[in-house]
Amino acid sequence: MSRLDSFIRRLEAQRRMLNWAAAEIARRPGRVLELGLGNGRTYDHLREILPGRDIHVFERKVSANPRSMPPAAMLIEGDMAVTLPEFAARHGRSAVLIHVDVTTGVPERDRLLFAWLPGHVAALAAPYALVLSGWELQHPALAAVALPEGVPPGRYHAYRRSG
Ligand SMILES: C[S@@+](CC[C@H](N)C(=O)[O-])C[C@H]1O[C@@H](n2cnc3c(N)ncnc32)[C@H](O)[C@@H]1O
Repeated sequence: MSRLDSFIRRLEAQRRMLNWAAAEIARRPGRVLELGLGNGRTYDHLREILPGRDIHVFERKVSANPRSMPPAAMLIEGDMAVTLPEFAARHGRSAVLIHVDVTTGVPERDRLLFAWLPGHVAALAAPYALVLSGWELQHPALAAVALPEGVPPGRYHAYRRSG
């Protein structure tokens, strides 16, 4: 499969995952955390499908499309290795959905480079929160859950935080 086809499939999977997660958390109060603003595409989608929900966005190098820029109060700038534990110290396990979109594009590399990240995610996720990621997260408090229809295994990952 060409890298273009692979990229398109990843984006399709990402949209299905976000739409599915938004429906799953519809009746649950709590924050949404977007890890990796990038161009702002998935943040823009999240705010469209979750109107009224607090969406906090983490990014170390802000360069999003101006139309996808979060309000300043909801943008946490800096290295997530630092900002995530700081946020957890202030807000505790209050996120009902966490979307992990920090990636180098190579899942094997991500697992090593971001080995510190699953622990921070687990420390922010409310009981039974959903965590979505483009690469496999390994943490004892995060149990893999079945993907929504149309997302092939391995293309994206979903976890539920234990209570
Ligand atoms: C794949 S992009 C995010 C794409 C974005 N969700 C979108 O749809 O446009 C990953 C982002 O994570 C950010 N990032 C990577 N490592 C980071 C870290 N340790 N702390 C903060 N941001 C980081 C990068 O700067 C990059 O903008």
